[in-house]
Amino acid sequence: MTQHFAGPCAPTTGNRTGWWRDAVIYQVYPRSFADSNGDGMGDLEGVRSRLPYLRDLGVDAVWLSPFYASPQADAGYDVADYRAIDPMFGTLLDADALIRDAHDLGLRIIVDVVPNHSSDQYEWFRRAIGDGPASPLRDRYHFREGKGENGELPPNDWESIFGGPAWTRVADGAWYLHLFAPEQPDLNWDNPAVADEFRSILRFWLDMGVDGFRVDVAHGLVKAPGLPDLGGTDQLRLLGNDVMPFFDQDGVHEIYRSWRTVLDEYPGERIAVAEAWTPTVERTANYVRPDELHQAFNFQYLGTHWDAAELRDVIDASLAAMRPVGAPATWVLSNHDVTRHTTRFANPPAGTQIRTPGDRALGLRRARAATLLMLALPGSAYLYQGEELGLPDVTDLPDEVRQDPSFFRAAGQDGFRDGCRVPIPWTAEGTSYGFGSGGSWLPQPASWGALSVEAQTGDTGSTLELYRAALSARRELPGLGAGESVDWLPGTPAGVLAFARPGFRCTVNTTSSPVRLPAPGRMVLASAEVTVREGEFELPADSTVWWSV
Ligand code: NOJ
Repeated sequence: MTQHFAGPCAPTTGNRTGWWRDAVIYQVYPRSFADSNGDGMGDLEGVRSRLPYLRDLGVDAVWLSPFYASPQADAGYDVADYRAIDPMFGTLLDADALIRDAHDLGLRIIVDVVPNHSSDQYEWFRRAIGDGPASPLRDRYHFREGKGENGELPPNDWESIFGGPAWTRVADGAWYLHLFAPEQPDLNWDNPAVADEFRSILRFWLDMGVDGFRVDVAHGLVKAPGLPDLGGTDQLRLLGNDVMPFFDQDGVHEIYRSWRTVLDEYPGERIAVAEAWTPTVERTANYVRPDELHQAFNFQYLGTHWDAAELRDVIDASLAAMRPVGAPATWVLSNHDVTRHTTRFANPPAGTQIRTPGDRALGLRRARAATLLMLALPGSAYLYQGEELGLPDVTDLPDEVRQDPSFFRAAGQDGFRDGCRVPIPWTAEGTSYGFGSGGSWLPQPASWGALSVEAQTGDTGSTLELYRAALSARRELPGLGAGESVDWLPGTPAGVLAFARPGFRCTVNTTSSPVRLPAPGRMVLASAEVTVREGEFELPADSTVWWSV
């Protein structure tokens, strides 16, 4: 049973066109943001109660990870009803109130849509199984006969991203495809009923008044005809480095062209952002051609180490890839799937899943510098809840509290995403540091109190105040997020980046030694302590400075 609401109006402040081109978008992971009813799990009412905090932080929009009805086999990325709220997060009325309040505060709301797979508890899949092999609903998923004498082997050699085979056999002997957990069967986008259903889901949420969608596994919807074997290649090594028979197939773009027509039916520039792990920024650009989606996450940027040459290359490549399609570049350092960047930068470079705390002070210094660099770039930036507090990943969670399905599928060798999902601290003391009155679904470390919003507010040296100042300066410095290029300034020492934007300079030191440089203008903000004397300044190790010129 669904209810219908007249969609609340989008914020009238910032009613200019292209609001999303330079927007700073804050990711809320609802189960870990704020818990209003003391059940240890964050909820929509908790998010609503903290909207003033987000407005004051200075972000433009909030992206909420899934809060739909779900058995939570993958923290809500296994959706059992795309038009209902899971009771643990609240009700549709709560969603309506949240959207309305956000708009009243001038914040836009982006929700997740999960079209690559449903939950195995979604009505379609339950009927596909329950009605037996002849069920027409089987064609909405990828059911196949197995290989081997008695069909006892999976239909092809694809592996689940979470480990193990990408196929599970049902009682009547057929196999179904799941690129993620077995509880997340992949939908068959060649079946027109699937496309119809998702256009209807988009409309449902657009009618509710949301300003856009984050498209989960946007690169996965179309599979190569015949579901060909990979043929003995190391699948995990290929992931994100190559076009795969199940990822980044050209056919996905037709889907997004049809979604764009739906988005464009609505007033107020409703947008979509692709979660598309593609081999190159050029292939990412295909998702944001003018008649497709508006933005795509820049995972190449997220994966870049704290290294001046690498950063400059990825910034140039990202801007160059977006220019021909006219889309803004996007920038992101953390999300709910990777080790928080404070911890990545605290360790020697080693991918996006790190299991050791490393040198925390170093990680935080670099993280603060990386944020000022990111927010000085043209385009749109994504923040992940808690990064404004400088939270590290919680690397020592006991195995028995872990919930990431990939941890279990990969026999504890992988799947450490719970470490970035620990509920965030609001107060210096008290039960779950103000997250809620009933504890927290993952244990919070003792260090959380000193990192809380309460402890950092008003402390000018804190990371929270740095974010507040940076976001406020970004609004005030004309056009900082606009444009499509940066002018690199010559003559900087190795490991130091300097670039110009209109009326603005940014200097970044990625090395472990301070560097003395001429001051290019009036200092606006710095990620570390800097003194300017007689036209010169010392740029500390691992720091960034903003200048107005
Ligand atoms: C990407 C999401 O960000 C991640 O959390 C999820 O596990 C997979 N997609 C599967 O939906």
